[in-house]
Amino acid sequence: MSAGRDRLILVAFADPNAFYQGDQAAQRDPHRFTIDNFVAHAKLAESAGFDAIFKPDFLGLDTLKADVRPRAGFEPLTLLAALSQHTSRVGLIVTESTSYTEPYNVARYFTSLDNLSGGRGGWNVVTSYYGEENFSDGKLLPLAERYRKADEYMRVAYKLWEGWKEGSVSWSEAGHRFDGDFIEETDFAGDYFRVRQALDIPPGPQRRPVIVQAGASEEGLDFAARHAEIVFTATPDLDAGAAFYGDLKRRATSGGRDANHIKVLPGLNAFVAPTAQQADDIYHSQFTDRNLLKYRDKIVREAPLFKLAELDLDEPIPAGAIPGEDELNRVERRRSRGLLLRSYFTRPGATLRQVLSSVYEFGHLTLIGTPQTVADEIALWFEREASDGFVLKGGNSFDAFAHEVIPILRAKGLVKEPAAGAKTFRQAVFGVEA
Ligand SMILES: Cc1cc2nc3c(=O)[nH]c(=O)nc-3n(C[C@H](O)[C@H](O)[C@H](O)COP(=O)(O)O)c2cc1C
Repeated sequence: MSAGRDRLILVAFADPNAFYQGDQAAQRDPHRFTIDNFVAHAKLAESAGFDAIFKPDFLGLDTLKADVRPRAGFEPLTLLAALSQHTSRVGLIVTESTSYTEPYNVARYFTSLDNLSGGRGGWNVVTSYYGEENFSDGKLLPLAERYRKADEYMRVAYKLWEGWKEGSVSWSEAGHRFDGDFIEETDFAGDYFRVRQALDIPPGPQRRPVIVQAGASEEGLDFAARHAEIVFTATPDLDAGAAFYGDLKRRATSGGRDANHIKVLPGLNAFVAPTAQQADDIYHSQFTDRNLLKYRDKIVREAPLFKLAELDLDEPIPAGAIPGEDELNRVERRRSRGLLLRSYFTRPGATLRQVLSSVYEFGHLTLIGTPQTVADEIALWFEREASDGFVLKGGNSFDAFAHEVIPILRAKGLVKEPAAGAKTFRQAVFGVEA
């Protein structure tokens, strides 16, 4: 497999609404949740040179929210299946949870997506950390066991994708023919799953989707090192990026994998404008008292050990409001988030306003500047081996990123067409032998 490191891998959120931050007019446009808007966004991502579009997913309605954020009426699988019919090259990364689905369903979804899209499916494997009240026994397994179950889930899925052997499908002028003698039963019986039969649909061009993962706990990182081809992460600065990158590549190689076969993509928010001052103004325009208080409440909901509910924005944060590290290390939901928040909240003398403004993107890299300075920073991360690319998750203008930042990255030789002959998403990222 030729999987050199000669180009940036760029993934964009498949939701155009992630890119209207600081843009009041766009946020009021009734057209913004229509499928036409999503199609236009996917097409622009593809023509600009993104390798893939990605739809995150969390399976639960946050009823505590005072005002439920209006959402487009699409979940990831059906949305990206629809977008596959309006695009021809870009990868399609769908989130599915191993806690709330069965492997037979999900393996089948991705085989279907691969057939629908001509080999462009990707699976963001998540273990989920809330939403359990909507499924079966209403329980969320403890973190370590969630990942053990996910590991078994992957073993079943790989087996299902391998079930249709060479010879099971043959093509001729008369059409295609299936031969059941070459289809192997799955016959899997583990601690969590039992699957007897093979899939009932033939494999797509990739056979299995590109596996994407974003674990942050020890268990999550080990899971990513074993299974992921692309890893999403949240690293706010170059040092944190380089440390994460080195750690994950070491975990992968110590398990016998080639470091180039696992691409590390930090989340990126980009605020781009003709001058640095304009970009800064747009970025800071988000920090109204109302938005910051909403953000405070969001933290209280997601990380209830932080006692911030009654705090005013301009009050220094009392030590008693912040949980200890030991306490946070015992959290079974999103453990990494509490630890990240703690590192910001323990800065001496900081007011709530200062902390909320600095942790506003939850530890994801935020670049604010002109197209040139943003492109230069991206190039620096790649050169310093702090990333193999980025997942663009938000900002003020997707148009500006596509039309102004990417051409500079192209001129630097960092964004370029996949190798000649690459037909699938996996081949575009890892080379034609993949
Ligand atoms: C860019 C990015 C995207 C993510 N998307 C999702 C998602 O769609 N659904 C989800 O449940 N978790 C998502 N996560 C969270 C991770 O799957 C994971 O739960 C989290 O990073 C904490 O790691 P841990 O589970 O090992 O504690 C995402 C994380 C990152 C960095």
